[in-house]
Amino acid sequence: MKSLKNWIFGTLAHNRVNSVLGFSVMALLLAAIYLTRDATNLDEYLLIDEESPPQCDLFSGKWVFDHKFAPSYNDQQCSFMTDDYACQKFGRNESIYQHWRWQPHDCDLSRFNATTLLEKFRGKRITFVGDSLNKNQWTSLLCLIESSIPPSERFVQWNGSLATFKTSQYDGVSIQFYWEPLLVESNCDDPAEHHVLERVINVHKIEKHAMHWKDADILIFDSFMWWLSPKMTVLQGSSQNSEEINNTVERTESYKMALKTWTDWLNLHVNQTKTQLFFMSFSPYHHTGEDWGKNSNTNCYNETEPILDEGFVGSGLDRGMIEVAENAVRELQSKGLKVQYVNITNLSDRRKEAHPSIYRKQWKPPTEKELANPSSYSDCVHWCLPGVPDIWNQLLYAYILQYT
Ligand SMILES: *[C@@H]1O[C@H](CO)[C@@H](O)[C@H](O)[C@H]1NC(C)=O
Ligand SMILES: *[C@@H]1O[C@H](CO)[C@@H](O)[C@H](O)[C@H]1NC(C)=O
Ligand SMILES: *[C@@H]1O[C@H](CO)[C@@H](O)[C@H](O)[C@H]1NC(C)=O
Ligand SMILES: *[C@@H]1O[C@H](CO)[C@@H](O)[C@H](O)[C@H]1NC(C)=O
Ligand SMILES: *[C@@H]1O[C@H](CO)[C@@H](O)[C@H](O)[C@H]1NC(C)=O
Ligand SMILES: *[C@@H]1O[C@H](CO)[C@@H](O)[C@H](O)[C@H]1NC(C)=O
Ligand SMILES: *[C@@H]1O[C@H](CO)[C@@H](O)[C@H](O)[C@H]1NC(C)=O
Ligand SMILES: *[C@@H]1O[C@H](CO)[C@@H](O)[C@H](O)[C@H]1NC(C)=O
Repeated sequence: MKSLKNWIFGTLAHNRVNSVLGFSVMALLLAAIYLTRDATNLDEYLLIDEESPPQCDLFSGKWVFDHKFAPSYNDQQCSFMTDDYACQKFGRNESIYQHWRWQPHDCDLSRFNATTLLEKFRGKRITFVGDSLNKNQWTSLLCLIESSIPPSERFVQWNGSLATFKTSQYDGVSIQFYWEPLLVESNCDDPAEHHVLERVINVHKIEKHAMHWKDADILIFDSFMWWLSPKMTVLQGSSQNSEEINNTVERTESYKMALKTWTDWLNLHVNQTKTQLFFMSFSPYHHTGEDWGKNSNTNCYNETEPILDEGFVGSGLDRGMIEVAENAVRELQSKGLKVQYVNITNLSDRRKEAHPSIYRKQWKPPTEKELANPSSYSDCVHWCLPGVPDIWNQLLYAYILQYT
């Protein structure tokens, strides 16, 4: 929990847990076997007809290790990669985590095809709106499509909170990321300087942000991690001058108010015929090995295998918050908006081994004490790329082919 709090406050993890990670000889043996196998390309992996819409619950399924299932890019080739997710570049010396494919119980997932997706995106504007986990997914998508566009025809431009991938190809499709970690306005809205000690959230205001993305054809939202802070001031005034400071509001309650502001705004301003909306469900974190039968001082650091138990539910999942998000999406659907809840929570919850842990850029160099105890500065929130967010995009792809 200590470590989670640090993440919430935006600083890199500096939890002081003293951990002695027990290691499993079995995992080590398996690792050795997997590493000696030659990974071939995903292309060999022929799945179902790309045009068929999702007909089953894509989110209920299992992770299957498959050495033939290999990513179509690597962290050093992708020109849009950032040091936060480049685990191999930062010394992760095994890549088993890149070879697990998601197998829904009742159907097969379409293979991700960048050209097919770009054809669907032709001339459109796609915007990811949210926090660094959504940025993680946006980065994954850019890496997945990069090789389908000539190098001189692709670049990313930042302007304030908005990052835009542009190309002259596919009728000038643009794929954007907009930094808005709490969806409504807050003192964490600066895309670079958001490491504040106490969050101040304006639960009834969204316009300042929404004007930047309201015309997009496809909007992909997420907002969850930033709500888990124990210390938040919630402003409930509707105008700058009549702000009423109220920090007694419990987080589920403030999340509900913010999502109401969000749904009301979309309801009024989004063109229902044109815009397709997606809401990415909560991306789980792995801050205590206790969840999978290890010592409470351990975390995602040194983990090399997913949890195969399909009933696994980590301690980080806040059922109340998840319900608020599910209800907000249902509310939009009842109003006739085209919106899909992308339920990645349970499937990602089993991927304890797929976080960067210590294999990422440390924006603040670890202290001697931290170095002696690597789990103390491990990132168990974001995800290595290639990795789990590629699967989220594969799920998104299934829906985009169906809806647009
Ligand atoms: C991490 O695992 C390696 C073997 O894979 C082991 O040598 C090392 O002691 C482990 N580290 C910790 C902190 O448990
Ligand atoms: C999300 O998926 C899990 C696992 O299949 C399921 O238990 C849960 O009910 C789903 N939630 C929604 C809103 O579909
Ligand atoms: C991989 O990294 C782990 C942890 O840093 C280390 O214990 C192990 O010896 C390394 N294995 C190889 C094959 O380099
Ligand atoms: C992707 O789809 C295009 C048609 O849209 C097809 O020509 C191509 O072969 C597909 N690529 C793969 C790897 O299947
Ligand atoms: C940056 O965004 C602002 C509006 O938010 C716009 O007025 C300006 O032209 C943009 N700058 C560039 C270089 O696109
Ligand atoms: C603060 O919010 C709580 C919960 O919505 C409410 O019960 C309380 O009356 C509010 N306090 C003030 C001073 O408005
Ligand atoms: C909504 O989008 C549709 C399809 O792009 C377009 O024909 C229509 O004019 C738009 N409506 C408004 C009010 O902008
Ligand atoms: C999915 O997660 C929820 C908690 O968010 C849990 O209640 C449910 O049992 C999980 N379902 C499965 C199939 O693991």
